[in-house]
Amino acid sequence: MKVSIVTKRLDEVAADAVVAGVYAEEKALPRELQRLDAQAGGQLRAALETEKFQAKPGQVTHFHAAGRARVVVVGLGPRRDTTPEVLRRAAAAGLRRARDLGARSVAVEVLGDRLPPRQRAQAVVEGAILGTYSFDRYKREKTEKAVEELRVAQPDARRAREVADGVRLGETFARATWFARDLINAPANEVHPGHLARVAAEVAREARLRVRVYERGECRRMGMGAFLGVAAGSDRPPKFIHLSWVPAGRRRRRVVLIGKGITFDSGGLNLKSTDGMLRMKDDMSGAAAVLAVMRALPRLGPPVEVHGLVAAAENMPSGKAIRPGDVLRAMNDTTIEVGNTDAEGRLTLADALCYAVKNVKPDEIIDVATLTGACVVALGPLCSGLLANDQGLADRLLASAEASGERLWQLPLIDEYREHLKSEVADLNNVGPRGGGAITAGLFLKEFAGDVPWAHLDIAGPAFTEKDLPLGPKGATGVPVRTLLTYLTTEGRS
Ligand code: BES
Ligand code: ZN
Ligand code: ZN
Repeated sequence: MKVSIVTKRLDEVAADAVVAGVYAEEKALPRELQRLDAQAGGQLRAALETEKFQAKPGQVTHFHAAGRARVVVVGLGPRRDTTPEVLRRAAAAGLRRARDLGARSVAVEVLGDRLPPRQRAQAVVEGAILGTYSFDRYKREKTEKAVEELRVAQPDARRAREVADGVRLGETFARATWFARDLINAPANEVHPGHLARVAAEVAREARLRVRVYERGECRRMGMGAFLGVAAGSDRPPKFIHLSWVPAGRRRRRVVLIGKGITFDSGGLNLKSTDGMLRMKDDMSGAAAVLAVMRALPRLGPPVEVHGLVAAAENMPSGKAIRPGDVLRAMNDTTIEVGNTDAEGRLTLADALCYAVKNVKPDEIIDVATLTGACVVALGPLCSGLLANDQGLADRLLASAEASGERLWQLPLIDEYREHLKSEVADLNNVGPRGGGAITAGLFLKEFAGDVPWAHLDIAGPAFTEKDLPLGPKGATGVPVRTLLTYLTTEGRS
């Protein structure tokens, strides 16, 4: 979808469809809509008066204005309740309706009037792009209906700069999210560790990042016994990926992002059930998010040095696979008893954390992982879990999640549960009892972060959706790409 800004009133922009917003509980229509409604013989007024259309958030209706485009009207709910998320969802619903009506070019206004124009423009473009995502790469029948051009109507020249900034951010955030979704939705027979390494190299070339991919032998020499243990059962060789972005100007801090990159999680010898294995191509969602964020950085140019790490492996059972009871040695010399081969993510992340602490020496580390079913039990399918050894970092991430509309909730790292990870034979066991599983996993990771401020996002619930959502269809969601981009680009954070 091509996005442009047009310095015209909405009712003057040429397009197959126009999308306008209406606040609930208000008698007077906005001026642009009055004109469009007049051309349509007052159809909108009538719909509002008979309460067929109440302008509830996300509600959509449309009509035909004489001799011109279809007019799609989206509800914005009560004016006082306007949030960026209301605008994202309204834009998404409006664009989907326009698309389903066959529109190839759509004009949209910078919906609402309650928030700063930059914020509204970002929300509208984000919603428009996210809401019309579809994945048909493997289908003979391609989705025929697609919006090719989005024209943002922006009549007020004094606002041009702010709106342009918002549009650029919205477009960059949404495209990065699409990139992650595409990578996650693709099946595990295509997206294996070698594929992730190739994608990382491609991202590096496009975005002018530095990239280094370590092969199995190099990982062995670095002492990554935990990561290599997980990879042992698969015929697909592991890859340890390190991307870095160094801003041209003043660098204010150095951040490491680590994404869990299990390209398929069968559970290993502790094999998952039929149902449990079904979705496990998505076990590289953290890696996809990190690659997407790295790819978007040059366009956003934050004064932050960012390193993206992915320990990519496939978790498979075989004669070469690790067994329950095996003891692995991580890069920092911690020994780990494998209580369960299905708790593989934390093993790969352990070595990635060691590598970050030792080789990158960052000011902070954020890892992103589809780590535990327990987190899904605790928070459900719409909310990620946050665990951190530094409350300042946790608070900044919570604020970034809130601003981006991606849900995130902090869970406590309860010291006393540390004993759940005790092993008879090694320094640590990789599993604890069932209760509090998301917390135990967090405590396990904390052991490898040393004294670096560190936060862990457990995205096992929201990474993938079994039903259509306001901002995207069934499948990969691209969470938490927008939270991370917001985090890295927000001023005053450095
Ligand atoms: N990849 C899974 C976590 C997961 C489960 C993600 C459901 C998305 C949906 C992870 O590797 C795993 O299998 N975790 C185990 C840990 C257990 C063995 C301690 C789990 O959550 O059951
Ligand atoms: Zn697993
Ligand atoms: Zn897993």
